[in-house]
Amino acid sequence: MSALNITDTLQRPLRDLRISVTDRCNFRCTYCMPKEIFGDDYAFMPKSELLSFEEITRLAALFIGFGVKKVRLTGGEPLLRRDLPELIRMLSALDGLEDIGLTTNGLLLKQHGKSLFDAGLRRLNISLDALSKETFGKMNGRGVSPDVILQNIDYAQSLGFTVKVNMVVQKGVNDHEVVPMAAYFKERDITLRFIEFMDVGTDNGWSFKQVVTKGELLDRLRETEELIPAEAAYFGEVAGRYRYKDAKAEVGFIPSVSESFCSSCTRARLSSDGKFYTCLFATNGFDIRELLRSGASDEELAQAIRGVWEKRTDRYSDERTEQTAKSRKKIGMSYIGG
Ligand code: GTP
Ligand code: 5AD
Ligand code: SF4
Ligand code: SF4
Repeated sequence: MSALNITDTLQRPLRDLRISVTDRCNFRCTYCMPKEIFGDDYAFMPKSELLSFEEITRLAALFIGFGVKKVRLTGGEPLLRRDLPELIRMLSALDGLEDIGLTTNGLLLKQHGKSLFDAGLRRLNISLDALSKETFGKMNGRGVSPDVILQNIDYAQSLGFTVKVNMVVQKGVNDHEVVPMAAYFKERDITLRFIEFMDVGTDNGWSFKQVVTKGELLDRLRETEELIPAEAAYFGEVAGRYRYKDAKAEVGFIPSVSESFCSSCTRARLSSDGKFYTCLFATNGFDIRELLRSGASDEELAQAIRGVWEKRTDRYSDERTEQTAKSRKKIGMSYIGG
């Protein structure tokens, strides 16, 4: 069955679906789930609120019917969701889906990497913000050593995964790690992507002053490296990638603050409790779980998805000011899944 391509009010098609499978995480990154707020008594979602794998797969099939080609599983930390390989199997069986990826902090890959690979997953984006024990331990809020993540990255590669590494750069916190991180991953032929620190949620104390822009990052790297822009891998790719002149590896930048990419944003997001969001910085989502659990037919669910997308006007990053960043009520990153 061929897809019906729909567009939003800015003529953007629907191509990617980011599905958060849990709001829990075993890290407490300072820029995402600061431990002062996400403490021991924090009320995470009860299991009954989470979409089941059957519900996720049913919705994914309907999104594919409107042009989605790519699904990315996120969290919180997706590897905390029990039986995740089963979901990979169910999604892999869907007609019309071309790509499945997973974004993880990498801590549990030793336990779950092999079963995820066996279930058909091939692409992992692994977050790592520093090589120094002290800096990384502080940033992840749990004192986890970068060595564990580095070993798990090697392990994931040895299983056959294509791995990319994500580093959120925050001025005065880990920007001194930019050059060592680039050198480390260049040598291992792994794409490292620098992400500009974003004002997601309301808890991370964001200000423009803490952003290291893509331009600044490129200047720093170009002091020692020759970098050549690479073609985008697909329409709407969030990362601008560059090739090293003297190596196979690439390095990327996700400049959501300094060079927003809303005009080509083709991403829909599904939270773990079944809210459908059309922007990472949204205030409200459409409760598709309620419709699902009230016995709606595929046709009714599809009409709801279409209605939301066709009304979509979001372009938050194009319009961001210090003021909107502070005053707008936004849902949290760990909840919506990045
Ligand atoms: P691939 O290109 O498939 O490898 O994945 P990706 O880069 O889209 O996914 P990933 O989860 O690794 O995201 C990397 C960073 O890009 C994260 O910080 C995301 O929050 C950010 N990002 C992804 N999509 C969007 C978006 O639509 N808007 C904004 N502002 N940031 C995004
Ligand atoms: N700014 C930029 N990136 C962030 N991430 C989480 N919070 C932020 C933020 N405030 C990143 C994670 C992960 C990806 C899904 O989003 O590090 O790599
Ligand atoms: Fe967890 Fe990822 Fe948020 Fe860090 S950025 S707290 S690893 S969900
Ligand atoms: Fe898309 Fe919203 Fe990000 Fe813009 S800010 S790229 S509309 S998710």
